[in-house]
Amino acid sequence: MSKLLDKIVSLCKRRGFIFQSSEIYGGLGAAYDYGPLGVELKRNVHGSWWQAMVYQHDNIEGVDASILMHPTVWKASGHVDAFHDPLIDDKASKRRYKADQLIEGHIAKLRDKGKEAQAEAVHQRLLEALNADDLPKALYAIIMDEEIRAPDSGAFDWTEVRQFNLMFETHVGPLAGSDNTIYLRPETAQGIFVNFHNVRETARLQVPFGIAQVGKAFRNEIVARQFIFRMREFEQMEMQYFVKPGTQMEAYEEWKEKRRQWHIDNGVRPEKLRWHVHEKPAHYADAAVDIMYEFPIGWQEVEGIHSRTDFDLGKHQEYSGKKMEYFDPQIKERYIPYVVETSVGLDRTILMLLSDAYREEQLENEQRVVMSFHPKIAPIKAAVFPLVKKEGMPEIAHAIEKDLRKHFNAFYDEKGSIGKRYRRMDEAGTPYCITVDGETLEDGTVTIRDRDSLEQVRIPKENVVAFVQDKVRDWQPAG
Ligand code: GAP
Repeated sequence: MSKLLDKIVSLCKRRGFIFQSSEIYGGLGAAYDYGPLGVELKRNVHGSWWQAMVYQHDNIEGVDASILMHPTVWKASGHVDAFHDPLIDDKASKRRYKADQLIEGHIAKLRDKGKEAQAEAVHQRLLEALNADDLPKALYAIIMDEEIRAPDSGAFDWTEVRQFNLMFETHVGPLAGSDNTIYLRPETAQGIFVNFHNVRETARLQVPFGIAQVGKAFRNEIVARQFIFRMREFEQMEMQYFVKPGTQMEAYEEWKEKRRQWHIDNGVRPEKLRWHVHEKPAHYADAAVDIMYEFPIGWQEVEGIHSRTDFDLGKHQEYSGKKMEYFDPQIKERYIPYVVETSVGLDRTILMLLSDAYREEQLENEQRVVMSFHPKIAPIKAAVFPLVKKEGMPEIAHAIEKDLRKHFNAFYDEKGSIGKRYRRMDEAGTPYCITVDGETLEDGTVTIRDRDSLEQVRIPKENVVAFVQDKVRDWQPAG
């Protein structure tokens, strides 16, 4: 892990954002629990997505489909036959690797050593291998020819490459058997496709329209060593936008821009975002692009926007025998709508926001770590401190806290020096700290300290709620 990621992981545990799952039993790999601050951050991001996708579009409605679905759903979607990772084992260390990632690591090393021509040749071979009929054999051949060694043990002692399905299996009923095998959904999208007619008819929607969903997805990821970047249980925020065939590119371009803007509106620095266009999209897509973020582990996908044609609805029509067509009253024709999908990981968005917000700053007398979240996603919007625990200051501070809590999550702290209390709130990413002091007792004013600029202003205590509300609404990143 990168040093910065280590620091973020440690802050997350120290302040109660994210913990390893089942920690007291030694932890469970690639599964994480959100603590008091983390759960607030997650709720705020979920809310921001729902607001931007559902409430701001009169033609997008939400669903909450079940995680367990009829097994034929996954046959129809292609996940049973093709949702695989090519894996290879190092016999020396018994560690397992994704064969394509191993080769990508080798290419990066060649580039670092200035062996550009060789790197490019291996890159081309990898692209061909990824489209080969026998993917495992093609990847194995590259590993052998390039004599790629295991990153951990340094050994060159590999098993064959074999395909491994990423879906978690479970069984319906008391007995385990192949005839009652079902899967934990590996994406939320299929819950939307199978409800296409239910939602369209009940919400009386006409093409173009969208269905949005936020929910858990499960993938038995093999390489999962990057905190909440790649998890086995995670949440997705997906929206399928159903359009008339032939108009999908217009919708695709529109959603690309809207989705990038959403990340910026949540405070992400635009220079940390870039596009990755898929030159060869999957066989069922006619265009695909990823929004990439510069994570502490490098540039990685945070969201995918995919023009998926009529593939999914077409397959569900074929496997279920139920018509997935739409009668378009404007042209008086039936067709299976095309779909533009936007798919973003909620946890991966959280890691992006944590990474983007993390700052180490040298103040006059000390260093501070501050999480510079956009106030609208910050877990706590305002904290209230009595300067001392006497002279009626705690009572006034509690009254202000109570007022704030009617509108958003607020916090009261009277323990330790004011400096320590500020440091705690800086690490929690609380944008505004209100202090009740001697002057408050005289003239009813309090100080409000801005997390980022450290500026302090004095305002009447009755105006605190409106002040914080205005600031949360109008906030602009510093600089
Ligand atoms: N329905 C399309 C779909 O699921 P995907 O690219 O496989 O597409 C979409 O996943 C998003 O879900 C990714 O961009 C990422 O943000 C998130 N995601 C995928 N696998 C994940 C994992 N193992 N852990 C955390 N987030 C993941």
